[in-house]
Parts: sequence; C-alpha cells; structure tokens
Amino acid sequence: MTDRETHLLIVEDEAPLRQATAERLAEHGYLVVEAESGEVAIEQLAKFAFDVVLTDLRLPGIDGTAVLEAALERYPEIVCIVVTGFGTVKDAVDAIKRGAAEFITKPFQFDQLLHVLSSALEQRRLRSENAYLRSQLEERYRFDGLVGQSAPMRELFELLETVAGASSTVLITGETGTGKELAARAIHHNSDRRAHRFVALNCGALPETLLEAELFGHIRGAYTGAVSNRAGRLEAADRGTVFLDEVGTMPPSLQVKLLRVLQERELERLGDTRTIRIDVRVIAATNANLAQMVTDGQFREDLFYRLNVIPVRLPSLRERRDDIPLLVQHFVERLTGQDGGRRDVRVTQEAMRQLMGFSWPGNIRQLENVVERALALGRDRTQLDVADLPPEIREGPSVGQPQPVEIPEEGVDLPGHIAALERRFIQQALAETDGNKQQAAERLGLKRTTLVEKVKRLRPQ
Ligand SMILES: Nc1ncnc2c1ncn2[C@@H]1O[C@H](COP(=O)(O)OP(=O)(O)OP(=O)(O)O)[C@@H](O)[C@H]1O
Ligand SMILES: [Mg+2]
Repeated sequence: MTDRETHLLIVEDEAPLRQATAERLAEHGYLVVEAESGEVAIEQLAKFAFDVVLTDLRLPGIDGTAVLEAALERYPEIVCIVVTGFGTVKDAVDAIKRGAAEFITKPFQFDQLLHVLSSALEQRRLRSENAYLRSQLEERYRFDGLVGQSAPMRELFELLETVAGASSTVLITGETGTGKELAARAIHHNSDRRAHRFVALNCGALPETLLEAELFGHIRGAYTGAVSNRAGRLEAADRGTVFLDEVGTMPPSLQVKLLRVLQERELERLGDTRTIRIDVRVIAATNANLAQMVTDGQFREDLFYRLNVIPVRLPSLRERRDDIPLLVQHFVERLTGQDGGRRDVRVTQEAMRQLMGFSWPGNIRQLENVVERALALGRDRTQLDVADLPPEIREGPSVGQPQPVEIPEEGVDLPGHIAALERRFIQQALAETDGNKQQAAERLGLKRTTLVEKVKRLRPQ
C-alpha cells in the first residue's frame, strides 16, 4: 500500500464504530489515534502532523467541517476524508470544495474505506512527486531570474555559480539587453554577501563630477550643493556588492580612483582627508570592447586587468535561438500574471518561427518588449499570432538577414545574376564534396539528375 508508515487520526463520536474502525485500520498497518470529538481532534492536530484525518461530518460541538479546516490550514498536504450520513451528499460536496480529498457515506464496508484511503494517499504521492519533478526541471532552466536551457546558458549558469562562491572582481560583457545586470544580481544573491546590499551605479548616466560624488561620497561643503555629509555608493555597498554598469564610459580621472579602491580597498569621501576602509565586491559590466579601448588608449590597462579577474560573457540571443520558446513562455506567464489571474496564451507555430528567425539586435530586452506589445495589442486575447508582431519581425526572412539590394540606374540582368549565383552554389557544393554529385545534390536540395543537368547547362566561365 504505502511505502512508509501512515499516521491517521480518526474522529468519530460513536465509540463502537470508532474503535472497530481504528482496530481494523491498525491491522492494515495504519498508526491510528482516536478522537471522540472535534475539540479533541483539533488538540491532537496541534500536537502531531498526521498524514490522514478521517472525520465524521456530524459531531456534537465542533463539527467535521471545522476539523477539516483546522487540519488543512495547519497542514496543506494532509489527506482529509469525511464520513457523511446517508442522504447528505450536499454536505459531502461542500467538504470536497473545502479541500477534503474524498468522502464516504455511512454505513460503509471496511474494504470501501481501505480503497478510498489508499487511492487518496496515492494521489497525494503523485502530486508531491510532480511538484518535485517540476521544481527540478525549473532549476535546470533557470538561475535566479535568468532563464535558458541552451548549451551556452547552461555553461553560464555553472560559471555564475562558481563565481558567486568567490569574492573576486567580475567583468560581465555582452551586447545590450543580454542580461548583464540580471547576471550581476544573480551572482550577489548566490554569494555569502547576499545579506548585505547590492548597489548599482550606471557610470554612463552621470556627468563626471556627479559620478565621482556618487561613487565616493562627500563631506559637507566639498562642492557647491554638498550641504551635508554623505556616503558614496562604494561605502553603501560595504560587505555587499557594487555593480558598476557601463564601466567603459568612466572618465580617466575616475578610472585612477577606482583602481585604487580595487587595489587598496580604501577611499576618501570628496573633501575629506579621512581614509575609509571598505570590504566590497566589484562587479563591472560593459557592452563595449574594453580590450579594444585599452589598445586605443581610451581605458587604463591596469584597471582593465583589475576588473577582468573573472570574465563572464553573456551570449547574444542570436547565439541561443533555441531558448526563444522558453523565454517567450516565461514572459507571457510573467506579463499575464500581472493583470490578476493567469491568461492562457498560445503562441502560434508561425509566430514562433518568425520570433526564432529574427536577429534580435536588442536581445532579450527586445524580445520582452515584443511579447509585451503583442499581449497588449493582440486582437485575440488567447492567441499570439504573426499579425501581433512588429513589422520587422513579421516580415523578416530572418536567419542571416539578406543585405538590402540596390538596383542601379541602368537596371540589372536578373537572369544573369541568378545564373551566376547558381553557378557559385554548385561549384561550392562540388568542391565541398570532392566532386561527388550525389552528395553535392543533397547539399543543394536537388535531385542528382537535376544537378547533372544544371552542370551540363552551365556555360563555361
Ligand atoms: N536569461 C534571461 N531570462 C529572463 N529574462 C532575462 C534574461 N536576460 C535578460 N532578461 C531580461 O531582459 C531585460 C534586460 O536585462 P538586463 O537589464 O540585465 O540587460 P543588460 O545586459 O544589462 O542590458 P544593457 O546593456 O542595455 O544595460 C530585463 O528585463 C531582464 O529581466
Ligand atoms: Mg544593464
């Protein structure tokens, strides 16, 4: 029946029935505790986490419904079976609505009870197994808020997990919208600094003087407008993590000061002579090519090496198109979950194909915006179709977008162009297959005979 001991509480005011049932259940391996009233049952429930409550609905004093509610409130996983008198089906239905697993009508055969019990327990086992499997699956598809199951994302999750354990400086690179900030937060939340602050600062969003004050803080009167003493973001992140976004835009004078913080772990507030020691982990991010900027003399080489202790590169969405369905589903669920009660939205095959074919220069942020727009404007509230996508995605023949063509004044010889293109493909296919016509034809999606014919027809160059 069950693979471990099952603790059952039987609540019944008729003593002979209660005792007889308890005895027989015990014979079948159940560990039974008896309660002669609702009051006693609730006391027992407070003391012990039973697997099953078998309760009569009609009880003097506190009735079965109240026992049921008390049990479920305390142990949402508990299996409740209610026993009802003949002709009180309405009560039974009501009990099921309140969360009872099953009901059984008096008088009942003992075998009937056994059957109801074991099927309810089996259902509970399956339910918890499913929940477990689901959580396992989800874990493989995500790392904190990052969703992905493609090979590059799995590698990334592994790297992030390792990186989180260390305290070294991390440099996150990746195109815009690839999840750099999300990755930085994930590192922080999985590190032992998680109890302290994660402080983000976008170096590209502030003019030099403000950026300096934001980073290092200032004392009163350090500059016009500095009306009080104030800690900077680096100080605020003490024992936590500071996230320096768009670090490539940092002006040279600040690059020197940041270098010192990384080397010495100390700083002074603007206008102050006091040195403050800080224990902060730095995670920097950039969508610029910092190495190139070093070569071009735009970024300090020593700072680059200090930042680039652990490089983390986020793949573009183009490199992991197979994650698109999962991401779309993730955004649909998140976005529809917002307006109360989840909407079931199906994405048509054709729409998904277009989404997977697009080049996504704005990466995941762009995908998120497209899904949001489609959900907001979509005419069919349950289906997301090609027509709901923005024109560039709807129309795109997408993978490896063709270059736009230009037609010169004097016009073009289209048949000539096509023939030339055909020749190039055929020559390439034959070269790649060492002249094997069967294989070359397969590469080109042609029948062998068609290829042979075309080769014959091709004018010699
Ligand atoms: N793997 C992912 N799974 C789910 N959502 C993601 C993922 N990556 C990014 N996002 C979402 O995409 C959006 C952009 O992410 P984020 O701001 O971290 O990107 P970014 O690389 O910092 O972009 P930028 O360079 O423009 O600052 C956010 O809304 C984020 O929640
Ligand atoms: Mg960002």
